[in-house]
Amino acid sequence: MKKKVKKTIVTGDVLAKEFKEHSVAEFFKKNRQMLGLYGKVRTLTTVVHEYVTNSLDACEEAGILPEIEIKLDELGPEYYQITIKDNGPGLTKDTVGKALGQLLAGTKFHRLMQMRGQQGIGASGCTMLSQMTTGKAIKVISGTGKGKAFACEISIDPKKNEPQIYNMRDLDRKFRGLMIQAKFKGVLYRESAMGPLEYLRRTAIANPHAKIIFRSPKGEKIIFNRTTTYIPKPPKPMKPHPAGVTVDDVITMAHHTKAQKVSSFLKNDFERIGDTAIAQIQKLVSFDLNKDPRKLTWSEAEQIVNAFKKIKFIAPSADGLRPIGEARIRKSLESIVQPEYVYTLTRPPKVYAGGYPFQVEIGIAYGGKAGITTENNQAKEDENQGVKVEIMRFANRAPLLFDAGNCAITKAVHSIDWKRYGIRDLENVPLTIFVNFISVHVPYTGAGKQAIADEDEIMEELRLALMMCARKTARYISAKRAEIEKKMKRDMFYKYIPEVAEALSKITKKDKNKLIKKLEWLVLNKLKLEKPEEKKVKRLKPKQKGE
Ligand SMILES: Nc1ncnc2c1ncn2[C@@H]1O[C@H](COP(=O)(O)OP(=O)(O)OP(=O)(O)O)[C@@H](O)[C@H]1O
Ligand SMILES: [Mg+2]
Repeated sequence: MKKKVKKTIVTGDVLAKEFKEHSVAEFFKKNRQMLGLYGKVRTLTTVVHEYVTNSLDACEEAGILPEIEIKLDELGPEYYQITIKDNGPGLTKDTVGKALGQLLAGTKFHRLMQMRGQQGIGASGCTMLSQMTTGKAIKVISGTGKGKAFACEISIDPKKNEPQIYNMRDLDRKFRGLMIQAKFKGVLYRESAMGPLEYLRRTAIANPHAKIIFRSPKGEKIIFNRTTTYIPKPPKPMKPHPAGVTVDDVITMAHHTKAQKVSSFLKNDFERIGDTAIAQIQKLVSFDLNKDPRKLTWSEAEQIVNAFKKIKFIAPSADGLRPIGEARIRKSLESIVQPEYVYTLTRPPKVYAGGYPFQVEIGIAYGGKAGITTENNQAKEDENQGVKVEIMRFANRAPLLFDAGNCAITKAVHSIDWKRYGIRDLENVPLTIFVNFISVHVPYTGAGKQAIADEDEIMEELRLALMMCARKTARYISAKRAEIEKKMKRDMFYKYIPEVAEALSKITKKDKNKLIKKLEWLVLNKLKLEKPEEKKVKRLKPKQKGE
């Protein structure tokens, strides 16, 4: 006889027993790939990225010339330790726990400011990863330069997303900066285009004011010296521009403002709103702008946003943007990429999504050590066998090594018809294209912060800037190509000169050596290949600001 199978009916009551809350730390513990913490090589590079960007941000805000030391030690198979030390402002005993042991906590998320970090998740994500893969807390030493430095260990309570601080103690010395030591398993060090060394090389190019010292797991010490002692002006927080805000933004801001009236809230907390705009907004909404902003309703906020759309505001100010500058990018590329030709361009600021100012900087380096050397690449460019284009992407001066295909910068580079600029095959050319995108809010496509969204205004500006640089580079390349062709012709003629001179000497009875000299002069004259011609090529290098 067949046994009857009892069916369990899943009712709402049954499911209710499964209903649980979870913290953001538990969420990211399960979804670490969202933070870019996946792939053995990528994970280690991402860890370096998170710590280095934090050190640079902290130094920049404090007006300090950064000196950052990064040491990687191989502790076992796929088991590494990172030690990073900076000379920044450091963290205090009160803030160190939240900064490094709580996800979604930090000093950047709530401010519209040009910084490398913006989410409050980078360093704390690394603490969580160390804990998840080795069971160990991170070790920290911090000091503000005044009084004694302190040391402690930090981990995260994932259930509560709260820091756990152990062994807090004062040290018997002064120190200014932050030192973090963390261990990770399931990661790998590689000296590839996606590895920590390449990441640091690019960081050095975009941050010529930083000194970066790297000790690799092989025991090598690599120093990227600063090429300028100019400290970038500390970034300036910006207020939101009315053209870029949503109803939800207005309501949230209104409920937290210090202002007593909606009118003063709009004037104080947004950019570009003055008395004239207030008078215009008052005519477009059905309530009195003297109202308490904390009592603003959703539909009233909606009326404000609709009014914003009808009023013409001046574009957001770009005061808060801090470009690297043409001369500094040039110096940096010359020192690290060592090309034969460089052209750099810093474009004026623009605005995307109606409210966020941004700026694009490009550097094109050609020849010399520019481009990436490949073994199997069948290079077609004359004397540059086995070299292909290298696209260096940066957001607020931080290198972007991953998710290239998804990024506005890569898309813009590939959308250009390079043939028009004398570059027949972009994949086979000794070219380094450096692009730095800066903004008070970078529209990343994900929490891993590796690709910039292809907003229309951003794409348009990137393409324009790239084309301007390509045009300048094309002039150099075509002049160089013409010179190479002439030299090839000269060599061909020179090959036959001794034979011709010999024959002529027999016929005319003139001195063979004199004839050789004459014939050589004839060839050079015909090809116009004397020194002035070479000078002309050099003259084609455009003069740039700051030179
Ligand atoms: N080296 C450092 N020196 C001083 N403060 C630091 C340093 N590293 C981190 N912090 C502080 O810790 C906070 C949290 O860092 P974390 O990397 O988690 O987030 P973030 O940098 O704000 O944003 P993102 O998640 O985009 O990196 C920072 O906002 C900063 O205030
Ligand atoms: Mg960070």
